[in-house]
Amino acid sequence: MTYAQILNTVKLFVYDTPELTPTDRLPDCAVVIDVLRATTTIATVLAAGAEAVQAFSDIEQLMEVSERWDCALRLRAGERGGSKVEGCDLGNSPLECTSERVKGKRFFLSTTNGTRALQRVEKSPTVLTAAFVNDQSVIDYLQRQQPETLWLVGSGWQGSYSLEDTACAGAIAHCLLDNLSHENAEAIGNDEVIGAIALYCQWQSNLLELFRLSSHGQRLCRLGQEADLAYCAKRNCLQVLPTQKKPGVLMGL
Ligand code: MLT
Repeated sequence: MTYAQILNTVKLFVYDTPELTPTDRLPDCAVVIDVLRATTTIATVLAAGAEAVQAFSDIEQLMEVSERWDCALRLRAGERGGSKVEGCDLGNSPLECTSERVKGKRFFLSTTNGTRALQRVEKSPTVLTAAFVNDQSVIDYLQRQQPETLWLVGSGWQGSYSLEDTACAGAIAHCLLDNLSHENAEAIGNDEVIGAIALYCQWQSNLLELFRLSSHGQRLCRLGQEADLAYCAKRNCLQVLPTQKKPGVLMGL
């Protein structure tokens, strides 16, 4: 039985950027997606044994809150424009997040868009993060829990559309809605769901090429971060479900 067949009251929405989400209501479950690279990094860090990821849209607030943390048990990761923020231990490359480096520590993270998207939906009853590296863990959870309203929220780039985020939303929607047809139309909350599925189906066998075509993928390549793209394209290499435990604090289930 597919998700939509089980619960015909489900409503699934795709929002390409956090700015496009409604401001007068919240879903039962919000899934934040920032494939290049924040939610790939979050999945990697939690799978590598970090105590938690604490996300901040404001870097100054990150520095202030993390100052109160034992420096042996914290890492500060700051990214703006794809580059590392001065004064942080790391930028936002998932390839730097080895178990030796992150295990047992709190990972304080602030990025250009992904952490802002998380803040936008943080009051939802359930907040998860997804990327291609862990999307099957997220899909399995959604099929078990069957939230009645589900938002798949891309992080975009400073309010603009990101191919890779919407493609990942399409991958999740494609699995949940199984054989998309007018029979399960009641589960489709907005037309963006159909567009995201079509984008994913077009590129599912060549995600790396899609990333190389994307504006942010090209930006990362210009910054010498091309290796991150190959890692971010690895389907389901991590079985981890980043889940918000309290506003801004994510742990792996
Ligand atoms: C973002 O927040 O837009 C991304 O994570 C930026 C990046 O790390 O390249």
